Amino acid sequence: RPRVLSGIQPTAGSFHLGNYLGAVRQWVALQETHDAFYMVVDLHAITIPQDPKELRANTRLAVAQLLAAGLDPDRCTLFVQSHVPEHAQLGWVMNCLTGFGEASRMTQFKDKAAKQGADRASVGLFTYPVLQVADILLYQANEVPVGEDQRQHIELTRDLAERFNGRFGETFTIPKPYILKETAKIYDLQDPTVKMSKSASTPKGLINLLDEPKVTAKKVKSAVTDTDTVIRYDVVEKPGVSNLLTILSTLTGAEIPELEERYAGKGYGALKTDLAEVMVEFVTPFKERTQQYLDDPETLDSVLAKGAEKARAVAAETLARTYDRVGFLPAK
Ligand code: TYM
Repeated sequence: RPRVLSGIQPTAGSFHLGNYLGAVRQWVALQETHDAFYMVVDLHAITIPQDPKELRANTRLAVAQLLAAGLDPDRCTLFVQSHVPEHAQLGWVMNCLTGFGEASRMTQFKDKAAKQGADRASVGLFTYPVLQVADILLYQANEVPVGEDQRQHIELTRDLAERFNGRFGETFTIPKPYILKETAKIYDLQDPTVKMSKSASTPKGLINLLDEPKVTAKKVKSAVTDTDTVIRYDVVEKPGVSNLLTILSTLTGAEIPELEERYAGKGYGALKTDLAEVMVEFVTPFKERTQQYLDDPETLDSVLAKGAEKARAVAAETLARTYDRVGFLPAK
């Protein structure tokens, strides 16, 4: 079985619809066909300041949501990044292989650093993408299921893997991004030219999976479209409508042309009402299942203990080989 690896940050509140459609949904599907490793990236989370109590709670919440979304610990390895110390260890080796200029060109870093101010942004934020490289290479992943915004980090992973292999001998699998065209980028419902995101979206433009279903329905119904009335998929001329069509298509399995036909001659109201209903049907059981996992911390802990053990077995082997290649003296 080919291997996949991916990660998600433990954000406050809940995952948003972009996280789910762009990544987590694919994770659920890939556990059937691939040897799958998925993690909650708490080491990455502390690249921006975190309250310790909240970080712990958000990490649990993230795991509960991943289980609620359909990850099955019997079909995949689900773990928390800090439970596997090899991430930080390989991260250091990768830091020493990365050019300063190369890291400076990472667009997510530039955006986040600009938002925080150069003096407040941490060195951890700067090397964030390099830690992500280590995450992927530790597991010799063939593919990395993510949204479009992660493509540059996977390019960096490929570059560093090739560099290491060239310098020290074949050690790492060169991974490929696994990005579905249709859902690579889900847009803000209020400004459909920017991606949906916790940090940039207005509350009304951001669908939180754990919002009250009523709130979700309202957000869908007040989504920004355009002054035309035709329901047609056209990202340039009709970004708002196209985003709604993408979401409806993915959640129901109906093809976009089929939806265009179904809504021919009907207004945006009909599309929004139907999508609101589909969203409510999706988030209502999701919210319930998440709560059930949160109410059962023992099960959650045992899932994570088992996951960390499985992950460490793989990660330790890669790290040992890497240390040897680099020329570290083995500890006796
Ligand atoms: P994070 O936590 O920001 O996002 C998790 C996943 O959600 C995707 N995503 C989106 N997809 C489509 N449309 C959107 N609007 C949207 N917003 C977010 C992201 O692309 C991502 O796949 N750096 C990563 C976490 C990470 C990781 C890794 C990923 C750490 N190590 C190793 C893969 C492999 C991140 O911050 O994702």
